[in-house]
Amino acid sequence: MYKIQTLNKISEIGTDVFDKSKYSISDDCANPEAIMVRSAKMHDMQFGDNLLAIARAGAGVNNIPVERCAQEGICVFNTPGANSNAVKELAICALLLSSRKIVEAASWAASLKGTPDAPKTVEGGKSKFAGPEIAGKTLGIIGLGAIGGKIANAAEALGMKVIGYDPYLSIGAALHLEPSVKIVTDINEIYANSDYITIHMPYTPQTKNTIDTDQIAMMKDGVRLINLARGELINSEAVVKAIADGKVAKYVTDFADDVVLGVENVIVLPHLGASTPESEDNCAVMAAEELIDYIENGNIKNS
Ligand code: MLT
Repeated sequence: MYKIQTLNKISEIGTDVFDKSKYSISDDCANPEAIMVRSAKMHDMQFGDNLLAIARAGAGVNNIPVERCAQEGICVFNTPGANSNAVKELAICALLLSSRKIVEAASWAASLKGTPDAPKTVEGGKSKFAGPEIAGKTLGIIGLGAIGGKIANAAEALGMKVIGYDPYLSIGAALHLEPSVKIVTDINEIYANSDYITIHMPYTPQTKNTIDTDQIAMMKDGVRLINLARGELINSEAVVKAIADGKVAKYVTDFADDVVLGVENVIVLPHLGASTPESEDNCAVMAAEELIDYIENGNIKNS
């Protein structure tokens, strides 16, 4: 019997992929053959002698000590693309939240509960909450992988002009995106020409603070920034300062830190990008299939 340890709640559809006559799945088991994880940080974890593989139900693997795993012969899998639709949908929502004052208007309306003639006051408030349309504006996408590519298509369908940068883009993927997406080879073109910028790249020591004070200085006045990828990709202090200076109009981030929380014109979400039942099922099924194929057949996919 192979033991699979789950460090986070993994969708039932995913755990059902395992043949229960051969696998036991539990969040509390000693010396498992494999671990399934979503966001739990594993850097301080000691691994048992039986551990063959770790599968992350998600795209990024920065919660896993991948170098130590490589030294110890533990295979690390991820599930690229399995949550890309969910993240795309939140990115489109974030684009609109960065433009239209939806969050501000809704919380203002809620704050009026119990005041005299509240419904009338709410209706009268609409002029305070106007915001620009996204159609006709330019969206710059940094990273045109499974998620960035889907966002490009969706934004284009909403009438945006889309420019994209990705140093690792294959010719095939570029041909697929063009001509509706203008692909640039100099990231500074994204900064100089975009009304909205969204970033979709993995976090590594090299990509830390990809957007910092110098990059913001190159951007258009009133630019709106979106970060659903990893908090470390954008320097929070630099953005908050740029908001105070009026350079950045709005920042929507899926990552909380003390610098951004409670700041006007910053909308902080609790890492919601992949939090849909569909995406959780897709990721868990892909992760389970990868583990089974590795344990039973020695095949390595998405490692
Ligand atoms: C990812 O890396 O794909 C996301 O962090 C997934 C998640 O929210 O678990």
